[in-house]
Amino acid sequence: MSERVVLAYSGGLDTSVGIGWLKDATGKEVVALAVDVGQGGEDMEDIRQRALACGAVDAVVVDAKEEFANDYLMPALKANASYQKQYPLVSGLSRPLIAKYLAVTAHELGADSVAHGCTGKGNDQVRFEAAIAALAPELTSIAPVRDLALTRDKAIVYAQEHNLPIEQSKKNPYSIDKNVWGRTLETGFLEDPWNPPIEDLYEYTQNPADVQPADEIIITFERGVPVAIDGKAQSPLEIVQNLNALAGKHGIGRIDIIEDRLVGIKSREIYETPAATTLIVAHEALENLTLERDLNRYKRKVEADWANLVYDGLWFSALKRSLDVFIDDTQRHVSGDIRLTLQGGRAVVTGQRSTESLYDFDLATYDTGDTFDQSLSKGFIELWSLPSRISARRDAQQKHVAGK
Ligand code: ARG
Repeated sequence: MSERVVLAYSGGLDTSVGIGWLKDATGKEVVALAVDVGQGGEDMEDIRQRALACGAVDAVVVDAKEEFANDYLMPALKANASYQKQYPLVSGLSRPLIAKYLAVTAHELGADSVAHGCTGKGNDQVRFEAAIAALAPELTSIAPVRDLALTRDKAIVYAQEHNLPIEQSKKNPYSIDKNVWGRTLETGFLEDPWNPPIEDLYEYTQNPADVQPADEIIITFERGVPVAIDGKAQSPLEIVQNLNALAGKHGIGRIDIIEDRLVGIKSREIYETPAATTLIVAHEALENLTLERDLNRYKRKVEADWANLVYDGLWFSALKRSLDVFIDDTQRHVSGDIRLTLQGGRAVVTGQRSTESLYDFDLATYDTGDTFDQSLSKGFIELWSLPSRISARRDAQQKHVAGK
């Protein structure tokens, strides 16, 4: 049996041409692997058939939507994961899962290497290869587009010469990635950060300026995971899918940022993440209600580290594993209901309740029934500010001495 390589296959131009390129460059048989992470669009069976038509010896489709939602998106939600405080890590979350299935398929079908269609300029190449290194260090990673310097123009010529069944007319000026957590857009006219995005770019969200009648929803969480909308129990995947439609209708989750890539480039990125944005807003509100103050403040710092790690391709790392244990532990009381109004591009929290709430009306109220003993504050502040007072006295003293 000749050697084999498993290629992460999307069905698009680059990876379709990549099948032939890989075969030509390495002499290996190419197995195509398409992973369904809720990117929608084409039927997965059509994608599978295209891989075979492009010369793959075998083509495998994995429906990983539930696993993606349960084991990747829910940990991200518990971490309120937002890179640069904005980007919910859409691609950074799917790459480790796809890499996992590359490794699994390589082992099942006797391959000694895996391949992906990333260029050498982005984060995704790092995420794939770092995940493979952690999961299956014996496998070699090959990146035909990067390592053979294959451009899009060369890909088009190759596809025409070899009569590959790819519609050139569908060529899109943008680089797009999609899954159930959101949609990413780069390149084209967006490369000038002064150019405003145009309405045509968006697919998951409607224009928030076309204000729709508001929707009010209640999201119920159990230990940090959403379990119901308006009292109707749903799986994490269903909740994400339903919120994409509902929040997308109100134009929620449109993001336009200059992003710091791991490889050092600053890049202009457009995202639309209606469900992710809505869920993070709700989840964070419930944490504010149920987490003890120091824990809440400390967790916000850990969240930034978690997002950076995942963005940087270290999903399968020791530090990420340990942070997950911490974050999971923080979620033991994060149960309850968050009411939100969705309208005009924003998900606004309008109500919060929980049997685990730390909000104490009698302590908070300024009306009668106040149980907070204000007289205690005087002494508290005296001691709290004692170090400041002592050092301020010393500083004044020294100024006085120096002035002599
Ligand atoms: N910049 C984003 C990230 O690094 C999006 C990457 C999208 N990937 C793609 N192949 N178009 O997560």
